[in-house]
Amino acid sequence: MTDGLWNGILALRAALSRTTPPVHFACLSASGEVSLNKPLSADKVVYIALDTGAHDPLPGQAHLQRIDTLRFSIRKHGDFDAVVLQYLRTYLPYLFLPQMADQMQRACTVAHFAQSLDGKIATESGHSKWIGNDENLVHAHRMRALCDAVLIGGGTLACDRPRLTVRHVAGEHPIRVVVGRPDADYDSLLKACDQPIFVYGTTKACVDAPVDYTQLPDSPEGRACSLRVLQALYSRGIRTVYLEGGPTTTSRFLKDGAVDILQLHISPMLFGSGMGAVQFAPIAKVDEAIAFHSFTFEPVGDTMMFVGIPENIQQSVPVTPEVTATPKSQ
Ligand SMILES: NC(=O)c1ccc[n+]([C@@H]2O[C@H](COP(=O)([O-])OP(=O)(O)OC[C@H]3O[C@@H](n4cnc5c(N)ncnc54)[C@H](OP(=O)(O)O)[C@@H]3O)[C@@H](O)[C@H]2O)c1
Repeated sequence: MTDGLWNGILALRAALSRTTPPVHFACLSASGEVSLNKPLSADKVVYIALDTGAHDPLPGQAHLQRIDTLRFSIRKHGDFDAVVLQYLRTYLPYLFLPQMADQMQRACTVAHFAQSLDGKIATESGHSKWIGNDENLVHAHRMRALCDAVLIGGGTLACDRPRLTVRHVAGEHPIRVVVGRPDADYDSLLKACDQPIFVYGTTKACVDAPVDYTQLPDSPEGRACSLRVLQALYSRGIRTVYLEGGPTTTSRFLKDGAVDILQLHISPMLFGSGMGAVQFAPIAKVDEAIAFHSFTFEPVGDTMMFVGIPENIQQSVPVTPEVTATPKSQ
């Protein structure tokens, strides 16, 4: 069932990212056919209303009305497969992130972690393969295919030697983005595919870096501001970013208000020690915590994933001219 539907979601993503509003509704058939502003006559067509009250669904179809960034209300008409509806509930929200990026004038991010019940994402020694289950791996690859770029920190690059490609699902490999140093070992990414590798950091550029490095202004803590990274990516046409950790990078993005949606996959295991998923300076009161709204709990195989919108999202910071790019040498 899901192969045709997945191809349809990819096609819908492509269509929506080419089309500027108003799109009154989109049709996605269970076999993956997509049309905008034009109803299909096939059985089991899903209408995605993008404009409140624009059109009514036809009998025998499901009508998904978008409520906010993450939620759809679903009015069912006739017999409609619950698995298909769950699938659409899980992946459709991300198709609208490019529009949000245009409004915010920066790339939008979805951050993902696989963590234990006690909030650990790796052992003390940095071992993390695999905390999530097979379904979570496939989910992560689907998200890579739905985003323009995948972003990781230099620590994850060094520890995990990831490829950051789409291997388990159909779709295009994303652009790879690393926050770190230009002279790190990028071999695992360079060998994996031909997609560009963009690196952002605060250290000076080195001439023989094998990647496209941009030096950003230093913050008082010696780190690049996450919102500046997202603005720099947006200026290169990257509107959606899947942020795959590690904790130093994602914590920094969360504190900067630069995570738009958080996905926390929770595995049924206890570490009792290890690396915490999120690392902030100590807070004194509960109301200083980052709270979430519009959250859901999505099934991922026999486990679950928390998906929520942080309440501290920031739009962008004033653009300064000191963002400098070195010539690309890859
Ligand atoms: N379970 C999971 O879902 C999951 C996902 C990803 C990673 N992990 C695990 O996480 C561990 C690595 O975590 P980590 O926190 O050490 O690494 P990390 O967040 O991937 O990388 C941290 C490094 O990235 C660079 N960096 C990050 N933000 C920066 C900024 N704003 N400006 C400039 N540089 C920045 C810095 O490099 P420099 O210090 O070199 O400048 C920093 O030390 C590994 O064990 C990995 O397996 C687990």
